[in-house]
Amino acid sequence: MRVTVNQIKEMKQKGEKIAMLTAYDYSTAKIVDEAGIPLILVGDSLGMVVLGYESTIPVTMEEMLHHTKAVVRGAKRAMVIGDMPFMSYHISADDALRNAARFIQEGGAQAIKLEGGVTVMEKVTRIVGCGIPVMGHIGLTPQSIHQFGGFTVQGKTPEAAAKVLEDAVALEEAGAFAIVLETIPTQLAKIITAKLSIPTIGIGAGIHCDGQVQVINDILGSYTEFVPKHAKQYAKLTDIIRNAVTQYHNEVKAGAFPTEKQSYSIDESLLAELTK
Ligand code: KIV
Repeated sequence: MRVTVNQIKEMKQKGEKIAMLTAYDYSTAKIVDEAGIPLILVGDSLGMVVLGYESTIPVTMEEMLHHTKAVVRGAKRAMVIGDMPFMSYHISADDALRNAARFIQEGGAQAIKLEGGVTVMEKVTRIVGCGIPVMGHIGLTPQSIHQFGGFTVQGKTPEAAAKVLEDAVALEEAGAFAIVLETIPTQLAKIITAKLSIPTIGIGAGIHCDGQVQVINDILGSYTEFVPKHAKQYAKLTDIIRNAVTQYHNEVKAGAFPTEKQSYSIDESLLAELTK
């Protein structure tokens, strides 16, 4: 049985912390799922860590759906959340609903995430009204990176903090089941978490959030071009992969790979005809 929206909401009520991670492919989703992580986000961060774009902005619906399907095949228990890419929900509520439905119907996800607060309220209400669970995302919203002028901490002035709080309340009113708080001061995240009855999931928002989310490549140390301050590396996969690849390269060049262990054989007498 997959994790449900109600179970996630109950975790907040019980004071149980919620761990969420991104995944973009079948094998990784399977490991994350088997480790018991209840929420898997197919984040549009895949634009950077998987596809090599400079930001999340070029990511398309087709790319998101392609990866969502793979993650859904790998995760049997976790709730899989599809991240709506730039311009897939901005133009109209009809568009937003159509694209949200594609994540559920074609991608096999159980929920969607979108960025924005007050400005996306109408769209959230519409999507939730059609039975699709929505996770909000406020604070540093990477799709607005050009407006922010970089990956900077949000909500640092009293006015900016009040705006983030207003966005959080708007999303809860619109029917979101949880909200990602990205790169905002710890104290502001604490106030928002106390004010809302739905869970807050922090990334660079401190310890008081109801849960935490990280980009899996950041915690595994497999994407090192940009390591955010909020990321803790639990492994250094780049080093491990580089060593393994170098060893393989050296063994192939030296004629040391493959050995008999990695080879197949047939009875020599059956080859007599061929070697005549
Ligand atoms: O795209 C993503 O991975 C995200 C998380 C950072 C929350 O939106």
